[in-house]
Amino acid sequence: MAKNIVIVGAQWGDEGKGKIVDILTKNADIVVRFQGGNNAGHTVIVNDEKYVFHLMPSGILHENKACVIGDGVVVDPEVLLGEIEVLEEKGIFNGKNLHISKNAHLIMPYHKRLDISKERLKGDQKIGTTGRGIGPAYEDKAARTGIKCGDLLDENLFREKLKRNITEKNHYIQNVLHQVGFEVHEVYHTYMAIAEKIAPYIIDTSHYLYTAMNAKKKILFEGAQGTLLDIDHGTYPYVTSSNTTAGAASVGTGIGPTRLDKAIGITKAYTTRVGEGPFPTELDGKEADRLREHGGEYGATTGRPRRVGWFDALALRYAARINGLDGLVITKLDVLDNLKKLKVCIGYKYKGKKITDFPADAAMLELCTPIYEIHEGWFEDTTKIKKFEKLPKKAQEYIRRLEELSGIKAVMLSVGAARNETIMIKNPFTR
Ligand code: IMP
Repeated sequence: MAKNIVIVGAQWGDEGKGKIVDILTKNADIVVRFQGGNNAGHTVIVNDEKYVFHLMPSGILHENKACVIGDGVVVDPEVLLGEIEVLEEKGIFNGKNLHISKNAHLIMPYHKRLDISKERLKGDQKIGTTGRGIGPAYEDKAARTGIKCGDLLDENLFREKLKRNITEKNHYIQNVLHQVGFEVHEVYHTYMAIAEKIAPYIIDTSHYLYTAMNAKKKILFEGAQGTLLDIDHGTYPYVTSSNTTAGAASVGTGIGPTRLDKAIGITKAYTTRVGEGPFPTELDGKEADRLREHGGEYGATTGRPRRVGWFDALALRYAARINGLDGLVITKLDVLDNLKKLKVCIGYKYKGKKITDFPADAAMLELCTPIYEIHEGWFEDTTKIKKFEKLPKKAQEYIRRLEELSGIKAVMLSVGAARNETIMIKNPFTR
């Protein structure tokens, strides 16, 4: 029986991981975020109430489950505090079930400014970031100048690091961007006020998780974004600044890779992408508008309309390989309920030749055109269906075909946003 399961996005993010993590949390003791920051937007609907989390692990809505923000996450403490306050107001947060790694790097106000300004400078080469300061925060981490959550616990050390960072950043902000710089004392006071509130949660989370594992606790590792946004394995440079793939669950939490039992990939029954970068199966015009409206495809973080397109089997097979997927969760199947015809991309045409392996190379991908197979739609409401066998035959065939093309079996299907609009085929924790 699996105890430690990693959930990752198998596409370009927004696959519906929040809902799936929320459901699987029932079987887990701890939910851990291991990368990314509040560029993520995880939507969970419980009793008709909609919750959108950006930083908080999606398991927070469950009583008696611990939530961990791991070492690999970048934390905007103002956002975190805002999410804690919302949960407190609703009486969901009890202060005992949140743990933040002292190693997690902080997103500072200058990171947000730099993210937005640098994107503007890039013009049509822009990445289309969420503007939340994610890239600049990871840049500082790699440059070994970043400030960690643990530094908030030592006022003098924090002030010293802040001073050094602001001096360097102001140089760029004032002389290159020609903008007003940041004042050390202002940022210091803002962050110290927040530190007072979040300090009790900052601990050595790697040790906490190690101890929990030894006590046979079950842990769900909640990935953010998706495989194709991974900084190493995605469509670089149109990616985020962290590793979004299953391996990151280990380094992003300080848990040895041999302790992870399973990796489950979440994929929509079609494809979406936010921001710039190649997207071979992208639709435009009325067809795109229909799918976008039906699927409610607007960013949970930025509200941006998502780009939408047909299912890409090459991308899924690639995600299966990079993550070592053991199972698939196919979400938003119901969004396809009213379509007469569906297309699935089974190959690309590249410079006159057919290729069947996903090239994780943005320049090459730009030149790829999809080769489709056509499926007939099922034209029936699937949202009330609870068992795979009860799905319309054509929907079953569609799912079976995606499994065949990816080589991975579906363990769950999602046919609506609510918890009960789910078809459990094989619970990854219990079977
Ligand atoms: P950043 O992570 O804000 O630096 O943005 C880099 C790229 O990743 C942009 O194309 C964003 O739209 C995309 N991105 C970041 N987070 C998410 C997410 O949670 N879902 C979908 N796309 C995302």
